Formats: sequence, structure tokens, C-alpha cells
Amino acid sequence: MPEQVAWKRTMDGRLLIFSGNANPALAREIAANLRMTLGRAMVGEFKNGETRIKIHDNVRGCDIFIIQPTCTPVDHNLMELLLMIDAVRRASARRVTAVIPYYGYAKQEKKTAGREPISAKLVANLIRTAGADRVLTMDLHAPAIEGFFDIPVDHLQAAPLLSDYIHGLNLQNPVVVSPDAGGVGRANRFRERIGAGLAIIAKQRPEPDTAEVIEMVGEVEGKTAIIVDDMISTGGTLIEAAQALVERGARKVYACATHGIFAADALELIARSDVIETIVTNTIPQSAAAATARVRAISVAPLFAEAIMRIHKDLSLSALFS
Ligand code: R5P
Repeated sequence: MPEQVAWKRTMDGRLLIFSGNANPALAREIAANLRMTLGRAMVGEFKNGETRIKIHDNVRGCDIFIIQPTCTPVDHNLMELLLMIDAVRRASARRVTAVIPYYGYAKQEKKTAGREPISAKLVANLIRTAGADRVLTMDLHAPAIEGFFDIPVDHLQAAPLLSDYIHGLNLQNPVVVSPDAGGVGRANRFRERIGAGLAIIAKQRPEPDTAEVIEMVGEVEGKTAIIVDDMISTGGTLIEAAQALVERGARKVYACATHGIFAADALELIARSDVIETIVTNTIPQSAAAATARVRAISVAPLFAEAIMRIHKDLSLSALFS
């Protein structure tokens, strides 16, 4: 084999995909989309509670993708990710991409008072220090988090998938609603995709994990409202927004969010609410209870699979962002 060809083959590296325990179903689906199976690894625990990792496949010279959203249990899933990166790095992987469909700690991206951490930045430092060369993620709570990494970040959007679904419902007189001032840009882009009006809610948080509607701008009376957010955690923002919309005469209320965290009793609250259907993605695994709360999860696996293949082949990802 000519020397140059042999050298190129080593540099191309074999594509291998591993998963932690955060969302193995998504990881398997991504691999299936690439007509692959997941790499073999043991991701478990020692009896003392410490995370235990053993990569079974040879990864020397390989192009490694580790799929692990840092959803609940957040710290545990984060630790699995860090240790898996460390393991493949020490086993001479050529390149390591941390595939983090949902980036936990993202809401702690700034200090809101003195003597608080900027946790989203610390997590970025940890991922880099563990040995990741790149990050592939989706709908970061604040786009500026991308800048917390000194390595390339490919930032996918769920809006095309979510808006296609909404478009297919042929809703009468739709209006897209941002449930807070921070989400106006996101809601406006969504509105453009489906050709709808826009309404904006001003929200306040009297204390962490509680939300209150202060004011609403935009016409919603007699319309079908679609609340668009990046995530649903306690469900407080969504429930308050839905109530305010119904009080102002909205005929029907739908909700879309990329990340369905559904913390605490969020699903029960949503089940009892006026929201007809809540559409999320499978960046975070959904429990059986989600269906009883009229939650539908749309798969992001084909999109992540395409992104992984393009990264592996050094192709542009721009087409995936539009
Ligand atoms: C807020 O800035 C976010 O975009 C979401 O509106 C918020 O994280 C949702 O949280 P919760 O469901 O707990 O109100």
C-alpha cells in the first residue's frame, strides 16, 4: 500500500459510537440510522457508588462519538460522559466528539446574584479537560454557551422538526407564543416557518422553579396558540402561559419544546391543563406517563445521525441548521 494511502486511512479513523446510560434508546436509534451498532462498553457502578467504565472495543486511531444527554440524574450522567471521554482518550482515540443532545446546567449560564457559580461554564471546562475535541448538541438554553467551549461546537436546532409537525396539523388561525422575553427570537423564527402571528408573554420568577405571567403582547383571541420554548422543566412556565392564553380568549393551546425534562409533577400538571398536545423531542427519554399527559416525542435521531456522518467525513453541517 503506498505510504500516503496508508497514512490517510489512519487519519480517517474508524467511526465508533458509544452511549452512556442517559438515553441508550436514542443512541441505538442514531446508530441504526447510520446502519451501525453501538460500540461495546460497560458503563456501570462500583459498590461504593463511583462510576465504572470499561470500553471493550479497540478505539486506537478511531473517530469516537459518545452520546450522552446530561439529563436527570444530571451529575451522574455528566460523570459517565466525562469518564467515557477520558477512557477513549487514554486508549488513543484519534478524535472524540461529545454528543450532548440536551446540555444540563445550561440555565446556570450567568450569575443572578453574588456568590453563585456559572455552572454551565464549569461543565464546559470539565468536558474539554476530560479530552473532548468537539461537541455536538441541540438547542442550548442560551446560544452564548457555545462560546464557553474552546473547541468546535455544532449546534443543531429542533425547530424544523417541531414546526413541520405543527404545520401538518393545519391549525386554524395559528399564533406562536413566546412564554418569556428571552424566547422571542426562537418563537419568531418558528412563526416564520409556519406562517403565523406572534404573541409575547412577560414572565417573572418570584423564586426559582416558579413562574408568573405579568403581561402579554399580541392578539390571541379566537386563535390557536402554540407556545414555543426550549425546555419544559417544572411545567410552571407552560401552565401559566396556557392559563393566560385561555383567559385572553385563545380557542386552543398547543406547546412545543425541544427538551422535555418534566421535573417533579410537571406531567400531572400538564395532564390537567388546557394544553391539547405538547410536542417535545427525544433528546431526553420520555416515560410512559408522558403519553397520558398528551405529550408526543419526535425523534431527533436522523438529524444527529446525519450530523455525525458529516463531522466524520469533514463535510459542512450548514445545511442541517436551516
Ligand atoms: C426559561 O428561560 C426557559 O426558556 C423555560 O421557559 C424554562 O426553563 C421552563 O422551566 P419551567 O418548566 O420550570 O417553568
